[in-house]
Amino acid sequence: MNEYILVTGGAGYIGSIIVEILQNNGFKVIVIDNLSNGKKEALSEDVKFFKGDFADTLILNKIFNEYKINFVIHLAASANVPHSLIDPIQYYENNTSKTVTLLKKMKEKSVKNIIFSSTAAVYGEPVYTPIDETHPTIPINPYGHSKLMIEQIIKDCRKAFDLNYIIFRYLCVAGATELHGEARKNETHLIPLVINKIINNNSNLYVFGNDFNTIDGTGIRDYFHVLDIADAHILAINNINEVKNNIFNLGFEKGYSVLDIINFANDLFKVNIDFKIKQRREGDPAILVASTKNAEKKLGWKAKRTLNEILLSTYNWQKNPKY
Ligand SMILES: NC(=O)c1ccc[n+]([C@@H]2O[C@H](COP(=O)([O-])OP(=O)(O)OC[C@H]3O[C@@H](n4cnc5c(N)ncnc54)[C@H](O)[C@@H]3O)[C@@H](O)[C@H]2O)c1
Repeated sequence: MNEYILVTGGAGYIGSIIVEILQNNGFKVIVIDNLSNGKKEALSEDVKFFKGDFADTLILNKIFNEYKINFVIHLAASANVPHSLIDPIQYYENNTSKTVTLLKKMKEKSVKNIIFSSTAAVYGEPVYTPIDETHPTIPINPYGHSKLMIEQIIKDCRKAFDLNYIIFRYLCVAGATELHGEARKNETHLIPLVINKIINNNSNLYVFGNDFNTIDGTGIRDYFHVLDIADAHILAINNINEVKNNIFNLGFEKGYSVLDIINFANDLFKVNIDFKIKQRREGDPAILVASTKNAEKKLGWKAKRTLNEILLSTYNWQKNPKY
């Protein structure tokens, strides 16, 4: 098999685990990552790595001219909701505008298949829950808008030049493998922060908002394991002809509030985590829980790994990080 899969953002959290599972499944992988939020150590030596911007046309020309690329898995992005309100230009530039450059190069080089990592942030404040893919898309932060615009551009490219796409709208991704886990420079995600609090207890744990319209006032999210995301990508690649040009939510179909997660971790690890309540952050919806029936029906995918596995694998990763 002389075809390669190009993974943008492959040195990041989700990317490194997708790369690991692609390789376990016999795929050859090329990664492009500017290491703005990823780590070179996250890539094994047999991954072809290009350090740079995924919209750098010199690098893209080199990759597309030298290798037969069958799929692009496009994960590289700026992905911090509160930060997107402070610096929206970065989100429209790094996420939306640069993806246009990537798509332009894919068209020029006749690369036909893209799997795009979108987000439940495209839905905004839910009008019903669980959210299915036909739910209105009215983002409430620039991050969600930047991703929704890319979705539209990809759909238009489909019509114009036969691009095959899969758009995955992820809910909250968490968990780790033995080799990879969340190792960002500035962590903002709840589960790695909760586990860090248990292991190191070296910083405050903040709960942003206890006045949402939810059962305990804290935000409710749908957490699912990063290995389930990797499974979805393998299914999409192996069945592209049957499943192409679809949007799929990926989540566990169950909501946990921030306090639920803390209490769950308290029970699991026999601890009593100390936390502080802060004001809610602008741009955070009260509740985001997905219906993944579409992925189940068309892709044969359903999240399998439980919150228990998510917390334990994150704990094991943080106890023994490889980088
Ligand atoms: N983590 C989640 O819960 C979650 C939820 C919904 C969607 N997503 C999406 O999944 C994708 C991956 O998220 P993650 O959590 O692994 O984030 P991450 O920050 O760990 O990984 C992103 C990677 O992209 C790289 N990158 C960013 N801009 C780049 C550029 N211009 N050129 C080259 N590389 C660049 C970063 O260095 C990093 O390695 C993102 O598109 C994000 O929007 C994540």
